Amino acid sequence: MVDVVTIIDSRSGKSIELPLLHGTHGSPVFDIGRLYRELGYFTLDPGFLSTASCHSAVTFIDGEQGILLYRGYPIEQLAENSSFLEVAYLLMRGELPMQQQLDNFTALINHHSMINESLKNFYLGFNHDAHPMAIMVGVVGSLSAFYHDSTDIHDPAHREIAALRMIAKMPTIAAASYKHSIGEPFVYPSNKHSYAGNLLHMMFSVPSEEYVVDPVAEKALDLIFVLHADHEQNASTSTVRLAGSSGANPFACIASGIAALWGPAHGGANEAVLRMLEEIGDISNISKFITRAKNKKDPFRLMGFGHRIYKNYDPRARIIRDMCHKVLGKLGDEQDPLFELAMRLEEVALNDDYFIEKKLYPNVDFYSGLIYRALGIPINMFTVMFAIARTVGWAAHWTEMIGEPEQRIGRPRQLYVGPQHRDYQPIDQR
Ligand code: CMC
Repeated sequence: MVDVVTIIDSRSGKSIELPLLHGTHGSPVFDIGRLYRELGYFTLDPGFLSTASCHSAVTFIDGEQGILLYRGYPIEQLAENSSFLEVAYLLMRGELPMQQQLDNFTALINHHSMINESLKNFYLGFNHDAHPMAIMVGVVGSLSAFYHDSTDIHDPAHREIAALRMIAKMPTIAAASYKHSIGEPFVYPSNKHSYAGNLLHMMFSVPSEEYVVDPVAEKALDLIFVLHADHEQNASTSTVRLAGSSGANPFACIASGIAALWGPAHGGANEAVLRMLEEIGDISNISKFITRAKNKKDPFRLMGFGHRIYKNYDPRARIIRDMCHKVLGKLGDEQDPLFELAMRLEEVALNDDYFIEKKLYPNVDFYSGLIYRALGIPINMFTVMFAIARTVGWAAHWTEMIGEPEQRIGRPRQLYVGPQHRDYQPIDQR
């Protein structure tokens, strides 16, 4: 039996059989590519509620079961046993590395961690109070003006080096954004540190004093990076793919991903959660804010709650919550009143009929900000941390897309609801 879905057009009496495709996991997908050609219809799906935009072998999510797999490996196992650069290798190349392969990959990342000295001038054009995400969008976009030798997207060697450069330089660019905002000199990367350790070094060391990277902070940051490294076709990854589908260079594509990530419904939520917890202020105010979150006339939403795909606990949120206990305990901040407040808020929401009925659970951003805060990372840098980690996912998806034989420009259609034909009137006759 051929696996098809039959579409019957009751207006014309015509019917077509559309192939039903089965992936290795998840819901089957029927291929509507012939629908317009044969029946003259488009489909409408704002927000992509039921639409798969591509084939992908990078990451799988089962939102009902709360499962997240990178290249088939459960996120819990990677969080427990792996490191960010090993996960980066896995996402980019599809397999876990042997030790020598990981060493070579790490050496390559280290080799590319510096930025062109002229790029530093870019920062001077930003006011000191510019949001670091605004700086990131600009500076990452400008990389294409510096690294012309890796922008031929049809050359696999160029694709590889561009991806490595972005992964390697992102912490340096991010730390420089932070240093600019506080008026301190930029700190060069140092290859003696791990990827996460290097970021802490570049953010917090100053030329006049010795800085020792705290191993607890380094481990916590590395783990958060593992959890954020990819999340299949989310808004920013889809933005990177769409920008890349036109043949735009990878640096410009990643800059577009950073822009999409910034919004509070996506990566900007980690910053919004912390601001919300500060606004709630005290456990006694929780019920007032829960009531507001349920009121459709009030724009307030419980930030860090809900997800388009997870209708169960986000597995990343569970890992981060456990890590909060450990990290805050080790950094001597276990009594952080905002952590207490967050845990109580979660408990109240999870027992509230509105959140139960709509299957709204804490997502990855609900607790991550509390860890960043304990590490001394300022609120406006939270989404930048997300961008650093997600660069790996963006690069893996961009590389996968460009390498596909059937790759073509992404060009959605629309249901036009504007005026029909009208004739131009000269301005004095309107
Ligand atoms: N607080 C209160 N109500 C909510 C919330 C929330 N956080 N999230 C969803 N709802 C309600 C929503 O009003 C809607 O109600 P109704 O069916 O009566 O209209 C229902 O739940 C479904 O929500 P939706 O907005 O249609 O769902 P969506 O899939 O379009 O949006 C979301 C998903 C993540 C944007 C949304 O849940 C949200 O805004 N959450 C808060 C922001 C947040 O934490 N974002 C981080 C997402 S995870 C990290 C990442 O992707 O980067």
